[in-house]
Amino acid sequence: MRVAVVGATGAVGSTMLEVLHERSFPADEVVPFASERSAGRTLDWAGQSLTVTPLADDTIQGFDIALFSAGSKVSEEWAPRFADAGAVVVDNSSQWRMHEDVPLVVAEVNPDALDGHKGIVANPNCTTMQTVVALGPILKHAGIERVVMSSYQAVSGTGQRAIDELHGQVDAQMHAAEMPKPEVYPHLIAFNVLPQVETFKDGDDYTTEERKCMQETRKILGRDDMGVSATCARVPVFTGHSVSANVQTRDPLSPEECRELLAGSPGLTVIDDPANGLYPTALDAAGRDDVLVGRIRRDPSHDRCLNLWIVGNNLRKGAATNAVQVAELLNVRGLLRAARVA
Ligand SMILES: NC(=O)c1ccc[n+]([C@@H]2O[C@H](COP(=O)([O-])OP(=O)(O)OC[C@H]3O[C@@H](n4cnc5c(N)ncnc54)[C@H](OP(=O)(O)O)[C@@H]3O)[C@@H](O)[C@H]2O)c1
Repeated sequence: MRVAVVGATGAVGSTMLEVLHERSFPADEVVPFASERSAGRTLDWAGQSLTVTPLADDTIQGFDIALFSAGSKVSEEWAPRFADAGAVVVDNSSQWRMHEDVPLVVAEVNPDALDGHKGIVANPNCTTMQTVVALGPILKHAGIERVVMSSYQAVSGTGQRAIDELHGQVDAQMHAAEMPKPEVYPHLIAFNVLPQVETFKDGDDYTTEERKCMQETRKILGRDDMGVSATCARVPVFTGHSVSANVQTRDPLSPEECRELLAGSPGLTVIDDPANGLYPTALDAAGRDDVLVGRIRRDPSHDRCLNLWIVGNNLRKGAATNAVQVAELLNVRGLLRAARVA
């Protein structure tokens, strides 16, 4: 199987390469793609030296899978071209997520949505991803009427430039040097919390990230009528998003039942002994693929509402790992183009 990794030099792309290797993805060949700036660079991968290739009609031929993480513009132009050339694209950008012909898939939650794909499959945004891994089992068991989610998102969610910006600001503060002007975010991110993730487009009073969380959650869970309200904040954490979710179920669900349900569900680990200081933190998500849930408790203002604290690694489960899991599902379910034609 030939696999293309588009955006291979970026925060998500480099993690996709790691995850492909860690999970022994059955690739005969992996080709990293990035912009013209990186063309010709070599990347060490699984004991091989891979040469970064530019996107061009002749370089994109003959792939079975193309994992994309190079931003929406690149996905808009190149995902259909890879698909026309015979690959199934798994796209991390927001470009195709809400398109009605494109399944939006979280491996543990709605893998059957892959049936009938038309060459492009989308990965949800990282905050939605970790949240629905926890919401999926609750929806199946007790139904969900409404979710209010508030996120505390790490800078790696914005990519490599944001990681560098936080490093630079922390460094300047520690060494009493002149503070560099913020370039990636509208304000200083070091030692600060910004109630803005992405942009307020066309005068909207919700950010594009908040809109994505609300729409994508409904699409993945297949519940157009579910109430979802999101507030997304950026915090000075390098990796690991945290989400506080207030979940109103249709049927009664006690915190004990919820703990047991989530502990037995795929992709989730419950860490919930607050009296002993045990709950998930962003740092706990380092290097992990499972979504961590704790602080499961009754909302005292509503007898069918629970509060949960949900932590996930935005670069791994929030992006790279889910993309590779989707590629695995496409392969084992015979949903690659070559398998379908045969
Ligand atoms: N970071 C996260 O936690 C996360 C989570 C979910 C989804 N995503 C999505 O994944 C995508 C990438 O995010 P990231 O954080 O990895 O960003 P990033 O660190 O800035 O990396 C961007 C990648 O895209 C490549 N690229 C840029 N312009 C290109 C072009 N014209 N042609 C080909 N390649 C091009 C870059 O190559 P060069 O090195 O050559 O510039 C780099 O490899 C975005 O759509 C983002 O929304 C990110």
